[in-house]
Amino acid sequence: MTDAPKKLFIKTYGCQMNVYDSERMAEAMGGEGYVQTDSAEDADMILLNTCHIREKAAEKVYSELGRMKPLKAAKPDLRIGVAGCVAQAEGEEIMRRQPMVDLVVGPQSYHRLPEMERRLKDGRQVDTDFPLESKFDDLKQRPKMRRAPTAFLTVQEGCDKFCAFCVVPYTRGAEVSRPSDRVLAEAQALVEAGVREVTLLGQNVNAYHGHDGGLAGLVGELAKIDGLDRIRYTTSHPNDMDDALIAAHGDCEKLMPYLHLPVQAGSDRILKAMNRKHDAESYLRLIERLRAARPDIAMSGDFIVGFPGETEEDFQATLDLVEEVRYAQAYSFKYSTRPGTPAAERAQVDEDVKAERLARLQALLSRQQTEAQEAMVGREVGVLFEKKGRLPGQMIGKSDHLFAVHADAPEELAGQIARVRITSAAPHSLTGQLV
Ligand code: SAH
Ligand code: SF4
Ligand code: F3S
Repeated sequence: MTDAPKKLFIKTYGCQMNVYDSERMAEAMGGEGYVQTDSAEDADMILLNTCHIREKAAEKVYSELGRMKPLKAAKPDLRIGVAGCVAQAEGEEIMRRQPMVDLVVGPQSYHRLPEMERRLKDGRQVDTDFPLESKFDDLKQRPKMRRAPTAFLTVQEGCDKFCAFCVVPYTRGAEVSRPSDRVLAEAQALVEAGVREVTLLGQNVNAYHGHDGGLAGLVGELAKIDGLDRIRYTTSHPNDMDDALIAAHGDCEKLMPYLHLPVQAGSDRILKAMNRKHDAESYLRLIERLRAARPDIAMSGDFIVGFPGETEEDFQATLDLVEEVRYAQAYSFKYSTRPGTPAAERAQVDEDVKAERLARLQALLSRQQTEAQEAMVGREVGVLFEKKGRLPGQMIGKSDHLFAVHADAPEELAGQIARVRITSAAPHSLTGQLV
């Protein structure tokens, strides 16, 4: 008789890279006899894969751990682990504040998770190293299984840019790229398991240097894989957009016409204080060049309002930049002070001023998003169908420009790309008909 498999529950916070990392941790624990469960109550081990980017994100960890107390009380041999960026930033403090936490593992050392789990019999475990060896060398080949048609694939990690507000260079470490042959082998395995679209991930993905031709070179190689139909990448930094990558948006059919290119602010004074090392004008010229290569490219961005020292005039410059770019999609945040970052030491903008600016910016961005969606009505687009919709007979997928699209379609279209004519636009999705 074999033992019943142990059950692992993973809760993921933060960015897409954490989604990718959670999957890899689950695969690594699979080798230890763990299967994934979607119920914390059932689990023999709970892992929280955490995010440290803003104060609210980091606080969630402690409230979530609080909610888990009764589970641990009911099942004393339940293992509780904290992974991700809060683990990296506050590992020792978590261990001190939360005696029920058994292990803490950082984003660059989670290949050691199986070994840490085995050592729990000797006591609590902490590993927040930035090991010299890459975790990717240790993690097993992606086990073959049926997969959703879209997948994330980390190609680059870490950040050397040190924006004055940001914890990522401290939690993820220095910029590292995976060799392109490894990335290509992983992409091939994903395609064999049913993946049609990959999103290449990196904190500064366009600083990728695991291929002589940079990210554009890697995209060119990936485009040769039969069965891989769509390629996306995120997140890019404006200073790393090179000519080859801009050109690829015009030349490479599999490279989708959507780009997330954060600018954070529109005032040069604030950009300088943020240590962004680019100004508003150079960002706007860059977008002009991208649009010259691919006129219908959908632009997305990130914005921070209320950065220390931001005046009403500075904020107005952000609104002006947004007016000029016309974003299809965007994410905006109130500045949040992060311990250990330079901007945390500076005089802060009032919370109510931040809230009021965020509301104005979000109103403008959501107007632009609606306009971008409405501009799709009447157009024929490619849609990669992913799953059934809410209405009977309906399927949901993503268009080339990354809009959610609903259409009446047979279930067999799941995992297939079909042509759809867009007939109407609702606030967060489009509706269309198969052509
Ligand atoms: N590497 C990416 C994204 C980093 S984090 C980049 O360079 O753009 C994602 C977004 O969170 C950032 O683009 C920024 O808009 C936001 N962010 C980061 N630190 C923040 C902070 N301290 N307060 C508020 N928003 C922050
Ligand atoms: Fe953070 Fe700036 Fe690096 Fe992006 S580029 S991860 S915002 S430090
Ligand atoms: Fe958060 Fe770490 Fe990603 S801080 S945004 S999980 S890199």
